[in-house]
Amino acid sequence: MVEKKNAGQKIAAPVRLEKDDKPDTSGIKRMQFGVEGLDEALKGGIPEGDITLLTGTSGTGKTTLAMQFLAYGARHGQKGIYFTLEESANDIIQQFSVFDKGIVDLIATQMLKIVEVPTVDYDSVKAILSSEIDAMEAKRVVIDSITYFQMFFADVMSIRKAVIEVAAMLKARGSVGIFVGEIPYGENKLSAFGVEEFATDGVIALYLLEKQGTFTRALRIVKMRSTKHVMKYSPIDITEKGIVVYPNEKIAPDA
Ligand SMILES: Nc1ncnc2c1ncn2[C@@H]1O[C@H](COP(=O)(O)OP(=O)(O)OP(=O)(O)O)[C@@H](O)[C@H]1O
Ligand SMILES: [Mg+2]
Repeated sequence: MVEKKNAGQKIAAPVRLEKDDKPDTSGIKRMQFGVEGLDEALKGGIPEGDITLLTGTSGTGKTTLAMQFLAYGARHGQKGIYFTLEESANDIIQQFSVFDKGIVDLIATQMLKIVEVPTVDYDSVKAILSSEIDAMEAKRVVIDSITYFQMFFADVMSIRKAVIEVAAMLKARGSVGIFVGEIPYGENKLSAFGVEEFATDGVIALYLLEKQGTFTRALRIVKMRSTKHVMKYSPIDITEKGIVVYPNEKIAPDA
């Protein structure tokens, strides 16, 4: 019999951990994510030029975290584009405005753009991505979601090839990308097809951990090529300013 993980257990309060103060000695250039606690967990930020898979089940905070990444960049002179393949641009703006009212000004001043991508076929999606990035000279790029690429292909290897191709297109332009990926609820994996994490340089996973009928939010940096990072599950919170990460606390063992 498969026992339900965490069933019948209580959530204890987060426990303070020893701070991981080990310095990053890699010397690589980093881009600050712009989310409280996350840059500390990343030892300074995402390596410049990397593509990161931001993955999680539904409602784990992927869109919010990705928008925080773009809003921070836009306020620091880096133009950003959010490509949405499913949700409307208006919905994304409305939902994120709850956390960041200034988003409207960032869009008005053309530091940030939300682009609804018509999903006719892969080639037209790719063409829209590249032309919009070029037109804006976007430094930060979010694609929500690459899981949607499944609509264009009959096999997993073609999805992997497409993710690698889009990643290469961004890198050739000097852009830093966040690819949003969706995990089906209840599945213990990092992506829908099991290839997305191999086609990207880094993986940040968001979780809603279920314990005795309630949920606690967590984030884990699964991999980040060429850099040190915090390895454990860190508690996160969605506050009135968006997502906050607590890298020096841990999800407590159950009482
Ligand atoms: N004002 C708020 N304060 C706290 N939590 C909120 C607030 N608004 C939304 N949330 C939480 O954030 C979740 C949605 O976050 P977000 O849209 O970023 O997640 P997502 O992973 O992109 O979801 P989806 O899979 O539907 O795209 C909601 O389900 C809710 O739990
Ligand atoms: Mg979303």
